[in-house]
Amino acid sequence: MTRRVAILISGGGSNMVKLAESMTGDHPARPVLVLSNDPAAGGLAKAASMGIPTASVDHRPFKGDRAAFETALQAVLAEAAPDIVCLAGFMRILTPDFVGRWQGRMLNIHPSLLPKYKGLHTHQRALEAGDAEHGCTVHEVTPALDDGPILGQARVPVLPGDTPETLADRVLVQEHRLYPAVLRRYAAGDRTRIDLG
Ligand code: GRF
Repeated sequence: MTRRVAILISGGGSNMVKLAESMTGDHPARPVLVLSNDPAAGGLAKAASMGIPTASVDHRPFKGDRAAFETALQAVLAEAAPDIVCLAGFMRILTPDFVGRWQGRMLNIHPSLLPKYKGLHTHQRALEAGDAEHGCTVHEVTPALDDGPILGQARVPVLPGDTPETLADRVLVQEHRLYPAVLRRYAAGDRTRIDLG
């Protein structure tokens, strides 16, 4: 049975594009919705050009009322009836109640080698720590931030002279490899961890 995948974004959606491009041929899943908390997110136009239904629920009118925002988000998601939800550059923190509805069916990609550097500014923190390597992680989303079971990781070297920007660019290339690989396996019901060098 083809698995229905909704992808949540907040910005350019480069990970969303790679995920959508990967879901072809004998891939067990297909994208059914790209949903953003920002109506102006560049990824929405990219998804539309790929023929993927799009929607947005602007979080700003909810003025910090997370529950009300998530009720609206849930309504749009439920209509698409996804089997799997992929957070891809989605920059809103989700409440335990919302996560609880999707736990076991929701993935996220985080730009660090979890459990290191949960939260923001991961590249800056890796540089400040003097780490020799850095990378990205795909994990199942649980109520605790950036904390769920790890489904895959990809590693990159930290190079002399790296800035947060050069390091982020190197990591992003690996995100684009890792997330599609994990999704294909996950959509087939296989949660064996993937590690990319
Ligand atoms: C990137 O910084 C990436 O590391 C993280 O979200 C940000 C935007 O990603 N996953 P995208 O281009 O919108 O997928």
